[in-house]
Amino acid sequence: MAEKEIVLSGIRATGNLHLGNYYGALSKFVRMQDDYDCLYFVADLHALTTNPDPDKLHENVRNIVAEYLAAGLDPEKSTLFVQSDVPEISEMYLLLNMHVGIGELMRTASFKDKARKQLGIKSDSENIESQIIGSDSNKRVNAGLLTYPTLMAVDILIQKANKVPVGKDQEQHLELTRRFARRFNSFYGVDLFPEPENFNFGGNAVKVPGLDGSGKMGKSEGNCIYLIDDEKTLRKKVMRAVTDEGPKTPGQPVSQPVENLFTLLELTSTPEIVKHYRDAYADCSIRYGDLKKQLAEDILKVTLPIRERILDLQGDDAAISKALRIGAEKARERASKTLAEVRHTMGIRKF
Ligand code: TRP
Repeated sequence: MAEKEIVLSGIRATGNLHLGNYYGALSKFVRMQDDYDCLYFVADLHALTTNPDPDKLHENVRNIVAEYLAAGLDPEKSTLFVQSDVPEISEMYLLLNMHVGIGELMRTASFKDKARKQLGIKSDSENIESQIIGSDSNKRVNAGLLTYPTLMAVDILIQKANKVPVGKDQEQHLELTRRFARRFNSFYGVDLFPEPENFNFGGNAVKVPGLDGSGKMGKSEGNCIYLIDDEKTLRKKVMRAVTDEGPKTPGQPVSQPVENLFTLLELTSTPEIVKHYRDAYADCSIRYGDLKKQLAEDILKVTLPIRERILDLQGDDAAISKALRIGAEKARERASKTLAEVRHTMGIRKF
């Protein structure tokens, strides 16, 4: 039997998961479990690069793990782990940093964005390098933030992952990972690391719209339906979703806010129901109140069972700890092999 390809993705531990995360990533992660050798982990060390808060960090890790398990990630099929449970990552991060330039890290878009925010610099054009060098408090720009891409590359390379499903905002980090892999291989004349590629399981990226009539559902937009929302909250959010005055002439084009509701209905409902409301729009008989009631019903069918499982798991540290123990063991097995190869390659050898 051919070996399955290795899929790996990391999730930063910040806040609750919403419907956009669910359809954009999580539901695909669940489906990939059968076809690939999947590793999914909570990037708690990466979370430390900004606003470290010990209690919040621990809470966030628990929540993410509960939400992933509740949505159908199976710790028997996939390797589900917490980054810091694999100390090999930290050691290889130190080693790989010897082959990473400060300049290329400082030019990374995510670093410049975050550094600018922390220094309170608004404009793009201002030279941030001198301000970074001049700032003397680690509250400002810490070295962990600068080396974020090294750590992410190690997450991927230490597992020799082939496919990394991530959003567009992570593309540059993935490009750096490939560059570091090539650089290491060619510097030492080895063929240790494969070059990982971005991976969109099942073709097109799904764009899940928010409820505010604009674009994508996103935590910072405040237009989200969370998997953990209770029935009342969820219904209220959907009933308040932005629409328009309604169609006046048969067959007129659908406005963006209403198209967003149709898109959500297409994700959660049956083709018959979608057709019913599309037809009603086309002949101007649609009532948005009915459409929203239907939409809330259909979303609840998806989210309520997940919510129940999240609540159960959040109160069950034993279940979480068991799942993570299995995951850490599997992740460490491969990581320690790679780390041994890296150490040997770099000349760190026993007498
Ligand atoms: N940087 C990623 C994000 O912010 C999280 C992440 C960390 C990651 N390590 C990774 C993603 C390795 C994929 C692979 O979303």
